[in-house]
Amino acid sequence: MEAVHEDCIVQIRDDEPGYNLNKFCIPNHYMEDLEYVFIPHGLIMDRTERLAREILRDMGGHHIVALCVLKGGYKFFADLLDFIKALNRNCDRSIPLTVDFIRLKSYCNDQATGDIRVIGGDDLASLAGKNVLIVEDIIDTGRTMQTLLNLLKQYKPNMVKVTSLLVKRRSQTPAYRPDYVGFEIPDKFVVGYALDYNEYFRDLNHICVISENGKEKYKK
Ligand code: IMP
Repeated sequence: MEAVHEDCIVQIRDDEPGYNLNKFCIPNHYMEDLEYVFIPHGLIMDRTERLAREILRDMGGHHIVALCVLKGGYKFFADLLDFIKALNRNCDRSIPLTVDFIRLKSYCNDQATGDIRVIGGDDLASLAGKNVLIVEDIIDTGRTMQTLLNLLKQYKPNMVKVTSLLVKRRSQTPAYRPDYVGFEIPDKFVVGYALDYNEYFRDLNHICVISENGKEKYKK
């Protein structure tokens, strides 16, 4: 893995070759549908542990409401919160952490539809006056996050921070940069670790690059 640390982000280069699928445990039903393993599960976990530390350092003074953006964010959310909980139970100044969920939809196949809709979740009115941490899987154009931030503003939270496991490097300036980023990746369509292609590949531990065969097979 050729990764460059710049500021607080781990950047994965455009020419990162990834890892041969045969060197990792991949469900057999996806073997033809992936190009290669891009970010192995262990690396995701190690990076997430570090993000948990940074988030608690900045937000740790008060009760945090962690808002999970479903469905793609659920694995990152669960693992991040496990690390935050572990830090919390091993320090003298622990803080309460509560959870909320929101479900958004914006993609069909590997394309953004441009129509970002809230299709479920908790009543956002409960976020008034709270310190909210939005937990997202990936930021591409940033439109989804900007839409969500505008929506949240109406409910008057005290503070909103955003963490995203991945951000895509784009030729245009990214429309939105989260407060805490796991990895900056090249502009490729990735799946696994709860990131999907038309609901498939959430049952894959590693983050992988989808193959043309996979796109065709699970296309809507
Ligand atoms: P944005 O609005 O363009 O930033 O897109 C963000 C949303 O698009 C994410 O929450 C994902 O649901 C989806 N998305 C964007 N790129 C990918 C990808 O490479 N794999 C899976 N989902 C993606």
